[in-house]
Amino acid sequence: MRRKLVAGNWKMNGTLKANEELVAGLSAELPAGSNVDVAVFPPAIYLSQVIHALSDSHINVGAQNVCEQAGSGAFTGEVSAEMLADIGCRLVIVGHSERRAAYGDTNALVAEKVGAVLDAGLVPVLCVGETDAEREAGQAFAVIAEQLMPVLKSLSVENLRQLIIAYEPVWAIGTGKTASPAQAQEVHGFIRATVAKADEQAAQEMRLLYGGSVKAANAAELFAQPDIDGGLIGGASLDAQEFSAICRAAE
Ligand code: G3P
Repeated sequence: MRRKLVAGNWKMNGTLKANEELVAGLSAELPAGSNVDVAVFPPAIYLSQVIHALSDSHINVGAQNVCEQAGSGAFTGEVSAEMLADIGCRLVIVGHSERRAAYGDTNALVAEKVGAVLDAGLVPVLCVGETDAEREAGQAFAVIAEQLMPVLKSLSVENLRQLIIAYEPVWAIGTGKTASPAQAQEVHGFIRATVAKADEQAAQEMRLLYGGSVKAANAAELFAQPDIDGGLIGGASLDAQEFSAICRAAE
């Protein structure tokens, strides 16, 4: 039985004060002892603040991106996975569609970043998903397979078993147009079957998260699907009550 994971991608949002209030709200609303894993992903500049604020909490903290280069060096503006591990990060989102679209995260670069995250002992959350045009053209599965394959081919079975995958249809991100449970389940089943070709145990154990306009009102129906093991939440993760309600829907 896979433990559900609900992760909050704060994207480029927050201030020191707002983060303090959000974390206090989450700590109050989400007591330890739940059977659902919870993680939040603040902007890099606020990671240390949030990690410190949640140091006694069951809530894990992750980064929204990482440099593919290991360790340290002449990479101005970049942050390595080793640095994220050094400050207490546990997970890293890799290949979010917003980075693929605007910041040159190609399938090959995303695979390199997944490897860098694993080499630093962190858990990669690999994002895949198709655009509206690709779905309309009947290319959703082909696009997702192209996003998956460079990663699946580059990982050892041991590393593959560390991976988390988030299916985020681009047309559902920030639009209020959530994929139906059936639509999401169909793609999650495809992703799990694709991973199974590399390693059956990894496929069965891997947590597949759905992301794209998840709200408290629609979370339970999505999370009830056999191959949906939780969610990667954007806008709703910035509201402690709403995000906590989504976490409770995963129990
Ligand atoms: O990474 C999660 C994000 O892309 C989903 O955003 O606002 O549609 O929940 P949102």
